[in-house]
Amino acid sequence: MSQRIETLRGMHDVLHTEVHAWQAFEAQVRAVMSAYAYQELRTPMLENTALFKRSLGAATDIVEKEMFTFVDRDKRSISLRPENTASCVRSAIQHGYLYQGPLRLWYGGPMFRHERPQKGRYRQFHQVGVEAFGFADPDIEFEIIALGERLWQALGIAGHIRLELNTLGTAEERAAYRETLVAYFSAHRRQLDEDSARRLQSNPLRILDSKNADMQALLADAPKLWDSLGDASRVRFETLCAMLKSAGIGYQIVPRLVRGLDYYTHTVFEWVTDSLGAQGAVCAGGRYDGLIEQLGGRPTPGIGFAMGVERLLLLIEAGGVGVAPPQPHAYLLLIGERAGAEGMVIAEKLRDAVPGLRLQTQCGGGSMKSQMKRADKSGAALALIVGDSELDDNSVTCKPLREAREQNALSFDELTETLRGIVAAEP
Ligand code: HAM
Repeated sequence: MSQRIETLRGMHDVLHTEVHAWQAFEAQVRAVMSAYAYQELRTPMLENTALFKRSLGAATDIVEKEMFTFVDRDKRSISLRPENTASCVRSAIQHGYLYQGPLRLWYGGPMFRHERPQKGRYRQFHQVGVEAFGFADPDIEFEIIALGERLWQALGIAGHIRLELNTLGTAEERAAYRETLVAYFSAHRRQLDEDSARRLQSNPLRILDSKNADMQALLADAPKLWDSLGDASRVRFETLCAMLKSAGIGYQIVPRLVRGLDYYTHTVFEWVTDSLGAQGAVCAGGRYDGLIEQLGGRPTPGIGFAMGVERLLLLIEAGGVGVAPPQPHAYLLLIGERAGAEGMVIAEKLRDAVPGLRLQTQCGGGSMKSQMKRADKSGAALALIVGDSELDDNSVTCKPLREAREQNALSFDELTETLRGIVAAEP
């Protein structure tokens, strides 16, 4: 036997037994996006590497060590998208729709990061995200947070997720804070671990994110970003907080929340859970007012977030709020040679006559007993039996599989009536 070929590490099939949970999630996402009038954008999975280098920041973990980057046959450096904000901005600039007024977009699809796989962390994972362009005030920040909260409610997981919030101020305020921070950490250089010492010049804000227990005291005493902020930045953050309070959306201000990508300004946030171990961030985002200009567009404010679909599905599963896979309404048994051929045509007629019908048909023949076994296993409510006698008198035998009722012979019209009733009774 030749050797089996399996999926790459950190990349997974969504099996036919799992896909209904994804579809139910996607249906909720679509409903919520539509409630806020966001429009879907689909971008390619491969982009020029320069797009991510320029937007995420050359010294970020993603660009330094996590991108799937390769040289293609035309000798260009291309990368599988590690996230989708950069691609949305690229698309908006490229097609000029950025300048036709403010815009609210959403997307969903696979992203790729070469991280060490573990539960909730994969190399191919899926995000659903929103990006809004052209809105400068905190009201849009409130809107996308409220949109997230509405989705958690719809998914039945709101009780397991909390909101962490911070502000990074303007690019200038952040730069000033960066210098204060570099001075502080330089004065305590001996207490920095290897990773943090490396970040001291390249990305000092990220040192605040360190989970190293030995450094926590040093981090707790570090200068606070809030103290580097001007009045305008403080007021806009306080406005957002007041809006959240009046809508009853709980939050916690976490001064050390700095996010791992360079493009953020002002508000940043993460929705986190304690139910998934180390991979607790289920959704994250913030404002990025300089990014569009940085990628060659006219200065335009931007804001967005992205959620990790696999992490949310784990959370839904852990909370036991998942949905059952849809079963066929009916299973058509075809007994004998004539029925094997003519029955397939009857199945087509039934699908024509009963919109929404899920009808599974026995293909490949078999004894009555074996076909009935399959019908039962399919989960269908009804077994429909067609054999020579049914073909002779233009009927179909209909046998309820999930309740103790006698089987009976129905005309085609009676059968379609019964099936329509079953389809209509579905929630
Ligand atoms: P991010 O924090 O890198 O932000 O990712 C957002 C979410 O994607 C995370 O909170 C997590 O749920 C999920 N995620 C990230 N990496 C993995 C992984 N390896 N496996 C499974 N799930 C993962 C962004 O990507 C920004 N583009 C968000 C944004 C949009 N900011 C503004 N607009």
